[in-house]
Amino acid sequence: MDLILVALSGIFLFLPALVPNSAAVLFGGGTPVDFGRTWRGKRILGDGKTWTGLIGGIAAGTSLGIILALATLTFDFPEQWTWGSGLDAMGVVFALALGSLLGDMTGAFIKRRLGMERGHKAPILDQYDFVAGALGITALLFPAWVASHYINGESIVALIALLVFVPVLHRTVNIIGYKMGKKKEPW
Ligand code: CTP
Ligand code: MG
Repeated sequence: MDLILVALSGIFLFLPALVPNSAAVLFGGGTPVDFGRTWRGKRILGDGKTWTGLIGGIAAGTSLGIILALATLTFDFPEQWTWGSGLDAMGVVFALALGSLLGDMTGAFIKRRLGMERGHKAPILDQYDFVAGALGITALLFPAWVASHYINGESIVALIALLVFVPVLHRTVNIIGYKMGKKKEPW
């Protein structure tokens, strides 16, 4: 199989995990997930993690994923370009969206423990927390799907593509959000 196509499929299949971060920026602004509580003198997660962002983000990623999954099945995409068939596909896209924002919250938890204020730049953590969360949760719930699409044989190229392109994409989207006045920092 053409390796460029494998790389592209890796990014395409990851869309349900990419969308929640941008959607959370649009939906955010409400009650913080940690309800303002602190732990050892520092916020548990901080004001940058809200319930509306979390729920809106997961809903947006899952909705897009379901629409795309239906399209891949309707148009008979090759297996490499699908989230599986039927209910399994819905489960996988939900796991990607949920894991993405759980990873993002884990990143915020670590940043607060390190004494970084909300929005403080944390290279690597900011770009990869949601990638690790999405792949981790999905691997836990659907190990065979993750193995066949991101690990086994040539599909490892899909994982490499994610690790290379996601930070670039993440940064680009954040700069757009910043210019639109939706995001406080361009990272
Ligand atoms: N957001 C939200 N709820 C979430 C995730 C994100 O409301 N669960 C919104 C917040 O408005 C947040 C913005 O999306 O400020 C950007 O997210 P992110 O860059 O992850 O947060 P930061 O503000 O940088 O905060 P942190 O330092 O905790 O990462
Ligand atoms: Mg941030």
